[in-house]
Amino acid sequence: MADISSKPKGALKSDTHPSGDSRFKMLDASMKRQRYQPDALIEVLHTAQELFGFLQDDILLYVAHGLKLPPSRVYGVATFYHFFTFSPKGAHTCVVCMGTACYVKGGETLLACVRDRAAQENQEAGDDGRFISVETARCLGACGLAPVVVFDGEVCGNVEPAIAVDRMKGWLDHGSH
Ligand code: FES
Repeated sequence: MADISSKPKGALKSDTHPSGDSRFKMLDASMKRQRYQPDALIEVLHTAQELFGFLQDDILLYVAHGLKLPPSRVYGVATFYHFFTFSPKGAHTCVVCMGTACYVKGGETLLACVRDRAAQENQEAGDDGRFISVETARCLGACGLAPVVVFDGEVCGNVEPAIAVDRMKGWLDHGSH
């Protein structure tokens, strides 16, 4: 795991955004890459969903503000496409990055481990498979820390399978659902 800050091991610094959530910083970077073009709305919403797992109202408003679009337009587009989702699928979420850098650094093996562990915990939790949901992303914008996983909103870099499994074990051990 990278020693990046005083945050938990592997967590990205989040002190550069007022919300304290490093995912907004990554969303900012994504909008910047698209030069804040309103035409990039769908691309930016994809990135937002990959980072946050689903699109909450505040994220849609944040994107509207960033791309200087009326919120109604952002809501309209987000609700039009079936691949956008507006509520969490499980009590916990893991977003495993499968972009090139993460893939090269073992993303596929990591994803398989995360999926196996999630299946096991979902079975143990007996929650209709909704205790942990596993998603994939194309690139979370932190390639230097590949492989990257977002565990319940915390972006972690240099994640090895054993670390991911430990992290997910904790969820069931603490009965946090
Ligand atoms: S490829 Fe995973 S963060 Fe860029």
